[in-house]
Amino acid sequence: MAETMKGLKRSHRCTEVSRAHMGQTITVMGWVQKSRNKGGIIFVDLRDRSGILQLIFEEADCGAENFEKAERLRSEFVIAVVGTVEARSGAANENLKTGDLEIRAKELRILSESQTPPFPIEENSKTRDELRLKHRYLDLRRPDLQRNLILRSQVAASVRNFLTQEGFLEIETPMLMKSTPEGARDYLVPSRVHPGSFYALPQSPQLFKQLLMCSGYDRYFQIARCFRDEDLRADRQPEFTQIDMELSFVDIDDVLEVNERLLAKIFKDAIGLEIKLPIPRMTWQEAMDRFGSDKPDNRFGMELTDVSETVKGCGFGVFTSALENGGSVRGINVKGQGAMPRKKIDALVEFAKGFGAKGLAYLCVLEDGSYKSSFAKFMTPEQLSALVNAMDGEPGDLLLFAADKNKIVWDVLGNLRLELAKNLGLVDKDIYSFLWITEFPLLEWSEEQNRFVAMHHPFTMPMEEDLDKLDRDPGAVRAKAYDIVLNGTELGGGSVRIFQNDIQEKMFEVLGFTKERAQEQFGFLLEAFKYGVPPHAGLAYGFDRMIMLMTGADSIREVIAFPKVKDASDLMTNAPDVVEEKQLEELGIQIVSGSAQ
Ligand code: AMO
Ligand code: AMP
Repeated sequence: MAETMKGLKRSHRCTEVSRAHMGQTITVMGWVQKSRNKGGIIFVDLRDRSGILQLIFEEADCGAENFEKAERLRSEFVIAVVGTVEARSGAANENLKTGDLEIRAKELRILSESQTPPFPIEENSKTRDELRLKHRYLDLRRPDLQRNLILRSQVAASVRNFLTQEGFLEIETPMLMKSTPEGARDYLVPSRVHPGSFYALPQSPQLFKQLLMCSGYDRYFQIARCFRDEDLRADRQPEFTQIDMELSFVDIDDVLEVNERLLAKIFKDAIGLEIKLPIPRMTWQEAMDRFGSDKPDNRFGMELTDVSETVKGCGFGVFTSALENGGSVRGINVKGQGAMPRKKIDALVEFAKGFGAKGLAYLCVLEDGSYKSSFAKFMTPEQLSALVNAMDGEPGDLLLFAADKNKIVWDVLGNLRLELAKNLGLVDKDIYSFLWITEFPLLEWSEEQNRFVAMHHPFTMPMEEDLDKLDRDPGAVRAKAYDIVLNGTELGGGSVRIFQNDIQEKMFEVLGFTKERAQEQFGFLLEAFKYGVPPHAGLAYGFDRMIMLMTGADSIREVIAFPKVKDASDLMTNAPDVVEEKQLEELGIQIVSGSAQ
């Protein structure tokens, strides 16, 4: 029968033991990382969430009974040990915080035994993801994941401290709410009491935080769970966490200012990073023109150049027809890659096609100043050299061009730029480059829906100077919206909100909502705005992404205790799963398609 802790109390975590405790009797508890029996002397590495401590068992110190127990120890047994702190008898282990110490055991209790785990519990595990996720409780014992989750907890505490000191109130908003049509797909929860009716899980606390401003709470924050039924990627999970906030009586600068101090504080506390304030700002237009992305990674160059003017009227139909169709021709200069083999260039063309390009035109400036190009034959030597000049092309450079609608050109070159930087090792991983992106377009034309949709959300305030364009040229209206970008990842975003009913109604109209539909969906907000609403603005960070960037993890899966996989399922609990017929009956739900059982 397993032993208990009766009469024992843990005195230290493993790595809390130091040279200062030399000679003292301590009690430690944890998991056996590994045990080596050297005949008459047994070494055990004990692991807890703080790290590893070496234990040494000799019969002369611990007695025959304890020694026999020590002989039975296997990986992942849970034990309690009472012993004295000594200098390590063998060579010190530089890799361990407690590498110059060991605990000479006097008493051992085996609190719990373990089967052989399906994979070794070790840092940088090579075990395939599926197996580790199926046994996530074991995977979570690994020091790298433990470090990530410990940091996550510390950052949450640091956020709470900072915001509380700045006068923000932490207020919870509902998890069961009304489905709203904008944004990603909702997760729905059927109601038993109202058969046929559904709650939605919140995609964000957006509407509630605005209502809290209406109610006078002034400065709100919440570390809030959000749910979005969208395709998963490395930086996207169906449920994720936001650091969400809203402020009253403020404009853009006030929001950015307090958030810059928040970022400086939490990055300093978490990873010792000094962020130079103020964080630079760039308009959306500049970001797209220079980097082809609204979340530019500006740790390296290779910026886009618009060569539309230069190639106007040239003989290359691909370029001129793109211009005739209202598009543009832009290029990037891949410095020093003019000798890239054809095969590699072809792979780049294929990569570009993955982002909607019809092709990718290239020009290599050879060392002797001549050109090798997929389109040189369509241009005069003068046109070619004008183009090379416009691109600052020098011997040895590779120039890549995309010609299409702006959106496609930006997307293709923006992504090529990132891909090339990755392949050529141009990114300095030690740099943390923060950037505000401002003046986003208010609306985006959706080809699918044949209407404008809100780029951020329908409550975002247009820039005052563009208000008159809302009727005549909605696509040109800029928003009082901002994103915070770190190293090419969108860390967070927010906006100044519409607080005037007439502008909000106009906005719904432009978005194609009838008065009735707007009333039905957002009536409570419009109604609230009739009773005195302060100007307000806010922002939300992706908390998981923030921790991912702080820890250098490749995916937010590495910083979430129990994440889901690509098809949004949980390999450990097997959710989502079928439910009992009786549960469905109570909810008035019948499964009509797919095979539920
Ligand atoms: P937004 O939709 O931009 O804004 O979300 C804010 C931040 O949340 C993170 N994020 C995600 N993280 C992980 N998985 C996801 N599926 C996911 N989706 C978004 C991103 C993003 O920048 N209510 C507004 C904020 C506001 O206006 O105040 C909102 O939700 O890092
Ligand atoms: P083609 O005349 O279609 O063989 O194309 C000549 C060159 O132009 C090839 O290198 C194509 O990859 C490239 N190309 C085709 N369409 C585009 C486009 N929309 N933008 C840039 N290059 C293109």
